[in-house]
Amino acid sequence: MTQLIAPTVPAPAPADAPEAVGDPWPASARPGPGGDLLVGGVGLAEAAERFGTPLYVLDEAEVRARARAYRRAMPHADVLYAAKAFLCSAMVDWVAEEGLGLDVCSSGELWLAASAGLPAQRILLHGNAKSPEELRLARRLRVGRIVIDGPAEIARLAALVAADTPQKVLVRVVPGIAAGHHAAVQTGVGGQKFGFPIEGGDAADAIARVLDQPGLELAGLHCHLGSQITEVEPFLRAVDALVGLMAEVRDRYGVELRELDLGGGHGIRYLPGDAELDLAAFAVRVTDRLAVRCAEADLEVPRLVVEPGRAVVGPAAVAVYRVLSVKHTADGRCFAAVDGGMSDNPRPALYGSPYMVRLVGRRSEAGTARVDVVGRHCEAGDVLVRDAVLPADLRAGDLLAVPAAGAYQLSMASGYNLVGRPAVAAVKDGRARLLIRRETVEDFRLREVGR
Ligand code: LLP
Repeated sequence: MTQLIAPTVPAPAPADAPEAVGDPWPASARPGPGGDLLVGGVGLAEAAERFGTPLYVLDEAEVRARARAYRRAMPHADVLYAAKAFLCSAMVDWVAEEGLGLDVCSSGELWLAASAGLPAQRILLHGNAKSPEELRLARRLRVGRIVIDGPAEIARLAALVAADTPQKVLVRVVPGIAAGHHAAVQTGVGGQKFGFPIEGGDAADAIARVLDQPGLELAGLHCHLGSQITEVEPFLRAVDALVGLMAEVRDRYGVELRELDLGGGHGIRYLPGDAELDLAAFAVRVTDRLAVRCAEADLEVPRLVVEPGRAVVGPAAVAVYRVLSVKHTADGRCFAAVDGGMSDNPRPALYGSPYMVRLVGRRSEAGTARVDVVGRHCEAGDVLVRDAVLPADLRAGDLLAVPAAGAYQLSMASGYNLVGRPAVAAVKDGRARLLIRRETVEDFRLREVGR
């Protein structure tokens, strides 16, 4: 068995400190004065007053602790933070300082990371539709690895590369494993747009074509099964499938591949009591399985690469909204409309994703009521939390906080209804600082260049 240091969850609070609020809130979350909730030592209501709402409050220590937990659990692996979950320059700094690299999937993410100072060697670029400009930028910046996702890319990339400065590439394969919280994010199976299926021989053919290109240095295989996976088992089956293909590549082409990238997809808790991927178990079982399968196939153990996004940033942010109206309908429903919605968090509308919500900034002695927390957008489907349990005296002006808001919310936010994307404030050691200002109507207007 591989010897592991237990992943660090943020340090336990001193004995006299108020008790942690618990999952799925950041580990630093504590009850504050007057019904407030402290995150990173900062009151959410206080932050909302200072920066306005909707506001995303990002706990720097939580991001760092989660990144560090990966490094410690998998010291032998390359851990690349999946930028698509949420990216800004501060995130680049934090994950890089904790020893992670970055996985990017567009020239935008690549450019932001490189401008923030991350050495491009620590960046991996993937995506199913990389444009020629994106590939050129990746080459110009000397990106460490590029993941080949489709046949057209092989020649396109090879044409950009001089044989004396080869580009390290991985080939993305589809192992035929269904995993992930919604059909829209299941990428380990056939019948979807990513990668080369192993079954039927597409993957082996693509590998042969890459090996034929002197400018491309085939470092290994890549796969990404899906997102919000809470069991280790699918990853073990992916190891089996990829090692099987590596052995085939060795037998057919005489080449031993040095890297095996299992992608991301590590699940987190959105509701108390939800399952989450057990990082320590993942690290031990995947490492052991890889060693066993490689020994069976007489292969050297390749370097493992993982690309967690959600599990690094998801639990680190809380979204804070202001209630704008509370409506009781004749059929007994209650709708609390807030000043954000599907434009800052499209996940409930897209995937039916569940969230929890609580009142902050005021104590209520009233009982509880079932409330649909809805957004401000012009669609009946703009519901953030259905059937939330909230104080029965909830009223306009109240503040509501939604935990586990760090991943795939702001990164998928839109300009719907010209509401503008929310501000992001980082909290740490009792201090808050603005990382990203609120988007204003002036930002929208500035993009207009004609009428
Ligand atoms: N690597 C690759 C190649 C990916 O495509 C993804 C996510 C990741 C890593 C990171 O996965 P994570 O560890 O964050 O699950 N919008 C959806 C999730 C889409 C995930 C796309 N790919 C959602 O909100 O659930």
